Amino acid sequence: MHIDHLSLTNFRAFSRLDLDVPRRVLLVGDNAQGKTTVLEAIYFLATFTSFHAPSDRQLINFLLTDEALVVARLVAEFERKKKKHTLEVRLIQEINGSGQTRLRKEILLDGSKKQVHDALGAFNAVIFEPQMMRILEGAPEERRRYLNMALAQVVPSYARNLSDYQQALSQRNALLKLLAERGGDQEQLAYWDGVISQHGAAIVHARIHAIEEIERQAVRVHDQLTNSAEVFRMDYQPAFDPLQQDASQYKLPLQVQSVRSGLSLDEIQAGFSQRLRQLRGEEIARGVTTIGPHRDELRILCNGVDLGDFGSRGQLRTALLSLKLAETGWMKEKSGDWPVLLLDEVLVELDDQRRDDLQRYLAQGEQVLMTTTDLKLFQPLFVSSSALWQVSAGKIEQQTQSQ
Ligand SMILES: Nc1ncnc2c1ncn2[C@@H]1O[C@H](COP(=O)(O)OP(=O)(O)OP(=O)(O)O)[C@@H](O)[C@H]1O
Ligand SMILES: [Mg+2]
Repeated sequence: MHIDHLSLTNFRAFSRLDLDVPRRVLLVGDNAQGKTTVLEAIYFLATFTSFHAPSDRQLINFLLTDEALVVARLVAEFERKKKKHTLEVRLIQEINGSGQTRLRKEILLDGSKKQVHDALGAFNAVIFEPQMMRILEGAPEERRRYLNMALAQVVPSYARNLSDYQQALSQRNALLKLLAERGGDQEQLAYWDGVISQHGAAIVHARIHAIEEIERQAVRVHDQLTNSAEVFRMDYQPAFDPLQQDASQYKLPLQVQSVRSGLSLDEIQAGFSQRLRQLRGEEIARGVTTIGPHRDELRILCNGVDLGDFGSRGQLRTALLSLKLAETGWMKEKSGDWPVLLLDEVLVELDDQRRDDLQRYLAQGEQVLMTTTDLKLFQPLFVSSSALWQVSAGKIEQQTQSQ
């Protein structure tokens, strides 16, 4: 799929932007001019959340935030399977009489209002920026967030299961605390156990399959990027492991993975619900739900070594690149279309060989937008076949190429 036209209004430093978007774009400019913001805006249209900002409020042009009503708008006209679509997001901030601010998000797909869950998947993008090393190095939460953002785009009802699960989880935790403090009938938990195991099993089931499929692609990419020097592995460690009861039978991680992927949704749900019942006393004492996808972990290994703990800088960079390219290929496999690729300052971090490999890989994709402060990092052929957008203080000028 590809975007034909993008317009932004009051989105961060862009008061107004209106541009046709070619298939290869290089956003060039000094620091703090708005290059990353353009990628962030496009990724927002795929996930309806920012990969940077902790709150949507930060996305609205800060020069306007004292006004009683501010609307930030993002509109993309895109083409998918030869059909044209329009996707629009409005972030509406209102200040009421008593000075309180309220932010609403409205999504319109082809002119009709949609809930986030229903609009997810309409438009797909993959973003890659150097700070994403935190996926490998950071807390488990970073990896869960990474998985959620990728899965929500292509696995139907994943996002809905996730939000239903999270809501039920906080209700269940509140009840656990209440039972610990005041006592009461423990059977009150049965309802929440049912809801949690239903949505939780769907999340775990989707993660098992996605991780296996992404890993398959990543192994191939990583083998190429490292000239077969490193073997890439993804080790999913679900906090509720449907194989827990029989773990001793499956010693080899690879075998564990393939056995897990043979489990049906019903089997996972039944096991989850049973385990919650077994843990009931302990969970009441602790006042929290101790198992489930909100506590899952995913480790990335190269040649059997856990990169999060022991990876060198170069190994981490290459593994992240493999993971991102694998995610791209996986999305294409799942949805039938290439996602739009958004690459922020990625070449800076790579050696010459990997730069060339990446640019070769990108030639296959349908649309790619890359940012740089330095055009010299790119192969001349890549530059001459791309549109150059000069970004300066929240404005973009399309440059004509000299050759
Ligand atoms: N909500 C906002 N309203 C107005 N301006 C904002 C807002 N959020 C960020 N900015 C401004 O946008 C500018 C930078 O945007 P961006 O991160 O896209 O720059 P960049 O070109 O990618 O820079 P770098 O090369 O340093 O990565 C900054 O000057 C920042 O202060
Ligand atoms: Mg930037």
